[in-house]
Amino acid sequence: MAAQAPLPRAVPIRTADGEIVSGFTSPPDWRDLKQHTGAMAALDVKAILDEQHHRAYGRPWVLGRCYFDELVARRLKPSERVLDLGCGAGRLGVWLIPFLEVGHYYGIDNHFGTLWAFASYECLLHNLFERQPNLMLDDDLRIDRFGVSFDVVLDFNVSVHLPMDKRERLFRDIAGVCTPGARLIMPRKPKVSRTLLPTLGFQLVNRGDVQYPGLEHWPVDPHATDRWYEFRLSEPG
Ligand SMILES: C[S@@+](CC[C@H](N)C(=O)[O-])C[C@H]1O[C@@H](n2cnc3c(N)ncnc32)[C@H](O)[C@@H]1O
Repeated sequence: MAAQAPLPRAVPIRTADGEIVSGFTSPPDWRDLKQHTGAMAALDVKAILDEQHHRAYGRPWVLGRCYFDELVARRLKPSERVLDLGCGAGRLGVWLIPFLEVGHYYGIDNHFGTLWAFASYECLLHNLFERQPNLMLDDDLRIDRFGVSFDVVLDFNVSVHLPMDKRERLFRDIAGVCTPGARLIMPRKPKVSRTLLPTLGFQLVNRGDVQYPGLEHWPVDPHATDRWYEFRLSEPG
């Protein structure tokens, strides 16, 4: 019997039911993963090695570093637990994970190939395995399934792409998994009714243009500025 090629090392990806996504351990050769069905069909190993996931979001991969610098400027603390909604391939996560205390990063996404690029390739590239990031594959953004409360929730280019009913439910769910005083941060205006976030206890504490230093000199990204919105969940009483 032919010897089984070892799988690349990867951070475990969990489902909302707590199971580790393990379908990709079955092929005899990990280079054949893309030929398998179901979740495997979404996975193209060569594309990952070619870093095609760096070109998936329309705007440059380096923007993740710019986002991170801005979050640190906004006093993000290593002790905080951070939920990265629609974390994708870790454009922002690769910077957050080594900054935060071990195990304090939580990323959720519904695209297996993207998440796997994060869990294997990006975590290898950035030496993040020992930092124990928490990654979940889920289409319904069941963020309560992480089983922890968050101090900071990041909605970076995610809720705007959801249908309205799912978007509103997401914000309700966010309120349910936040610590008192937690912050919800996004680099654009939330697309929900003006009253929803205040009704949930989120007060707008900061709205302003953020210019990403250095990016304006690169002609490929005409959007070196975003208008960031930062909300804080009211302390009870
Ligand atoms: C534009 S990308 C942004 C990625 C990342 N937040 C960033 O800014 O670098 C949107 C991400 O949201 C994820 N996404 C979209 N719909 C989702 C859903 N229903 N549940 C979970 N993730 C979703 C996509 O797979 C994708 O990775």
